[in-house]
Amino acid sequence: MGKNIVLIGFMGTGKSTVGMRLAERLHLQFVDMDREIERITGMTISQLFRKHGETRFRSEEQLMAQKLGRCSNLVIATGGGVVLQPDNVAALKKNGIFVALEASPEVIMARVSHKKSNRPLLNKATTVEDVKKMLAAREEFYACADIRVDTTGQELNKLVNEIIAQVKRVNTRRKTPPEQC
Ligand code: S3P
Repeated sequence: MGKNIVLIGFMGTGKSTVGMRLAERLHLQFVDMDREIERITGMTISQLFRKHGETRFRSEEQLMAQKLGRCSNLVIATGGGVVLQPDNVAALKKNGIFVALEASPEVIMARVSHKKSNRPLLNKATTVEDVKKMLAAREEFYACADIRVDTTGQELNKLVNEIIAQVKRVNTRRKTPPEQC
């Protein structure tokens, strides 16, 4: 059973773009959690937040994490807040290698500024300082990753190559039997 590759990280770190290319390169199926939630609920993420609040969104996200945690051979782009719930991390880690994508607050701000309407939590984040604060509050949650990759100024193909190399290393390490004592 092939492990899933689970991309985590703050909004605007490139999880969907990188995930799609990674899946293509590895001939795996790509799943974007937020798009799946939109498909199942028939609402965009913004509509979900607006009509039913963040709590409803988080419970949809939790159901999706449980479901995908039972799958294999997927590349999964998570929403930036999936790691906030320990249950989600446990579910997705059972059969997944966690890759954290990182970017500087300045780059994040530039990347998300034209797509803020899709990201309700960024409605009030108007400066780089706001993003810095949100990043600092999330840092401990992203620390659950097996691999961390900085996407700032990186070309997509290079980035994907680096992730593939690191995933192979983690896989090899996991397959090595523990030394006898
Ligand atoms: C969220 C990130 C969003 C989306 C939702 C909440 C978060 O996904 O799941 O708006 O809490 O960081 P992206 O990281 O794909 O923007």
